[in-house]
Amino acid sequence: MIEQKKPVVFISGASSGIGNACATFLAKKGCLVYGTSRKPAKVQRKADEFFELIAMDLNDSASIQAAVRLVLEKEGRIDLLLCNAGMGIGGPAEECPLEDIRRQMDTNFLGAVQLIQAVLPAMRQAGSGRILVTSSIGGRIGLPFQAFYSASKFALEGFVEGLRMEIKGFGVQAALIEPGDFRSGFTEARKKTATLPGSPYEASAGIALAKAELDEKNGGYPIDIARLVLALTRKKKLAVRYTVGSLGQRIAAGIKPILPSRLAEYAIMAYYGLSGRNS
Ligand SMILES: NC(=O)c1ccc[n+]([C@@H]2O[C@H](COP(=O)([O-])OP(=O)(O)OC[C@H]3O[C@@H](n4cnc5c(N)ncnc54)[C@H](OP(=O)(O)O)[C@@H]3O)[C@@H](O)[C@H]2O)c1
Repeated sequence: MIEQKKPVVFISGASSGIGNACATFLAKKGCLVYGTSRKPAKVQRKADEFFELIAMDLNDSASIQAAVRLVLEKEGRIDLLLCNAGMGIGGPAEECPLEDIRRQMDTNFLGAVQLIQAVLPAMRQAGSGRILVTSSIGGRIGLPFQAFYSASKFALEGFVEGLRMEIKGFGVQAALIEPGDFRSGFTEARKKTATLPGSPYEASAGIALAKAELDEKNGGYPIDIARLVLALTRKKKLAVRYTVGSLGQRIAAGIKPILPSRLAEYAIMAYYGLSGRNS
């Protein structure tokens, strides 16, 4: 009898939220899962999590290399990379400190890029492999007072669109997962810029971010994304992107490209309680 090998799965950001749900679910479904956290020893583990948590910080290139090397040395291959770890900053674009903007892009974009570069040689040599990148509906729609978060996810969207065409001939597939609002540690972890004294953005930033946070707290459950990821491990050919979330959010992402752009912008501003006048 031929022994079926368990698919080896590498999930960045598996200590919490979406990554944690995906890691637990895929492990229960028979995958050999390695998840990452910046501080794996400090993470409170649940009894039903059947995956190993290893150290990796997307802001530390050496730790990205080391984490991928560890899994490749142990298992000889990575069949699926779920490039999921990320964070968000919030605040007026005019006032966000450069240091925070750099952290946003370094974590969500350059960190993900380095991780993908690290796994690609092994996938190419194997002639197979899947890379799923957690983007966001905020990577399709620019979000007010989360402009840099959106920028980091728009960057990922362009990167994956291009990457797909480069790696197709090697049997490696990549796709974007675009969640709407989901309950996770993301809201708590968001780094919010305090508006400057006398800031003209104070009221509007407060209203828009409060709406975003309320939506996240009342959002979907990460298990829905885990189910999607499992389905994508079994799908023969991956599409460019998969939007996951409430019907309203999926419709918003879908109709934005076909709506007149000023109408789309008006709808987004109204949704986030922005009048377009100085308050
Ligand atoms: N929740 C939503 O509504 C939503 C919507 C759209 C997209 N997303 C995206 O989904 C992904 C997962 O977020 P989540 O909602 O599950 O949030 P979460 O609960 O805060 O989880 C974020 C994960 O990323 C890890 N992480 C954060 N900064 C990191 C860094 N510098 N290096 C390595 N790992 C880091 C965290 O691990 P440690 O802290 O243990 O290192 C944690 O496991 C993110 O890319 C986010 O942008 C979330």
